[in-house]
Amino acid sequence: MAVALPFALSLMLLSLLPYHTHAQTYSNVTLGSSLTAEGNNSFWASPSDEFAFGFQQIRNEGFLLAIWFNKIPEKTIVWSANGNNLVQRGSRVELATGGQFVLNDPEGKQIWNAVYASKVSYAAMLDTGNFVLASQDSIYLWESFDHPTDTILPTQMLDLGSQLVARFSEKNYSNGRFLLILQADGDLILYTTAFPTDSVNFDYWSTGTLGSGFQLIFDQSGYINLVTRNGNKLSVLSSNTASTKDFYQRAILEYDGVFRHYVYPKSADSSREKWPMAWYPLSFIPENICMSITTSTGSGACGFNSYCELGDDQRPNCKCPPGYSFLDPDNTMSGCKQNFVTQNCEKASQEKDQFYLEEMINTDWPLADYEYFRPVTEDWCREACLGDCFCAVAIFRNGKCWKKKIPLSNGRIDPSVGGKALIKTRI
Ligand SMILES: *[C@@H]1O[C@H](CO)[C@@H](O)[C@H](O)[C@H]1NC(C)=O
Ligand SMILES: *[C@@H]1O[C@H](CO)[C@@H](O)[C@H](O)[C@H]1NC(C)=O
Ligand SMILES: *[C@@H]1O[C@H](CO)[C@@H](O)[C@H](O)[C@H]1NC(C)=O
Repeated sequence: MAVALPFALSLMLLSLLPYHTHAQTYSNVTLGSSLTAEGNNSFWASPSDEFAFGFQQIRNEGFLLAIWFNKIPEKTIVWSANGNNLVQRGSRVELATGGQFVLNDPEGKQIWNAVYASKVSYAAMLDTGNFVLASQDSIYLWESFDHPTDTILPTQMLDLGSQLVARFSEKNYSNGRFLLILQADGDLILYTTAFPTDSVNFDYWSTGTLGSGFQLIFDQSGYINLVTRNGNKLSVLSSNTASTKDFYQRAILEYDGVFRHYVYPKSADSSREKWPMAWYPLSFIPENICMSITTSTGSGACGFNSYCELGDDQRPNCKCPPGYSFLDPDNTMSGCKQNFVTQNCEKASQEKDQFYLEEMINTDWPLADYEYFRPVTEDWCREACLGDCFCAVAIFRNGKCWKKKIPLSNGRIDPSVGGKALIKTRI
């Protein structure tokens, strides 16, 4: 009795623990299991409940088969199967009795499947955020960690030849305009793509580790290192660490082209008033994305006819020059259009007085000038642009004058630029 009573008491106490309030307790996903897209409650959680695999509704546009941080209100997505191809309500992901793992739309058409060589006997959402398909003897035949989208998590590695693809915008998960590739030659490189294709266009950051880079490792202590085949550190992408015990962590190539390492306190206690209960960027690459991208084709860090300004939070803001507005008001990276009727080329000199030049200091759209004059005065430069129907912007700096045509690319405003941009608009 003396032993049995405390035992019974502890059982009673156990039953009061929040564990029992979870909608589902953990078990392996067995053959024949499936999830149907219908709201946000269709998922398989990891044992700790920190990660979940299942469907998330993306606004009214459809459902994404994804993995997310399950204990925070944001339900931040770290992996997805069908970002380019959202599915409708009633779609189903199934671990078929034959061992195939497939996503079908409501008509039964296959949208996505995991590809692997031998027979799968169960699936599991692990506490690391890795979703695995395993054989009978628990060998992982397929892992989401081996097929990253835009994010890596602690304990995840990128091997030679693997890449992260930025999404198109914060809430649009289809492939965007930037890639991070650990190339087969050992160099780790950030590229712009020739959007909408995924082919690389211009590299704007690299570790310069040709011939020596081997693996990108996001370790348990929160470091992100590029290492050699022997495990020697070559390049440190993030050394501002926070404990993985107290903080959720992720590193993501974001839609703005910046690779950021974020942390989120697991409890108000671990935040200790130092960090807000939100994703906080510990470090990021490159330092100034606005100045990093200058491409001979493509729009630059922002869309065509816009310019990039680094905010106080070190994030790029894409803005439209005076007289221009966003093509898509919901997406500041969509580029800008002219809000006025352009100059008539047949009567350019007569129309001169219907246009004026708006001045922006320290602003430039490098490359793609079609005329260049020096030495000239600012007045000469202004007159030359006003009387030329092709001239959308003139750049004047140190007695030099460049004429720019539409669409403008590589736009930026930065103290290091110098000079001024003269932007032509109709009065
Ligand atoms: C999952 O299945 C594997 C292999 O059958 C087994 O070793 C493991 O204990 C199972 N885990 C759970 C939580 O059921
Ligand atoms: C699912 O979550 C998303 C994002 O949090 C939200 O916009 C949507 O309204 C939710 N859908 C339902 C059915 O609760
Ligand atoms: C996401 O962006 C792509 C590229 O512009 C577009 O084709 C697609 O329709 C967008 N998807 C959604 C769900 O808005």
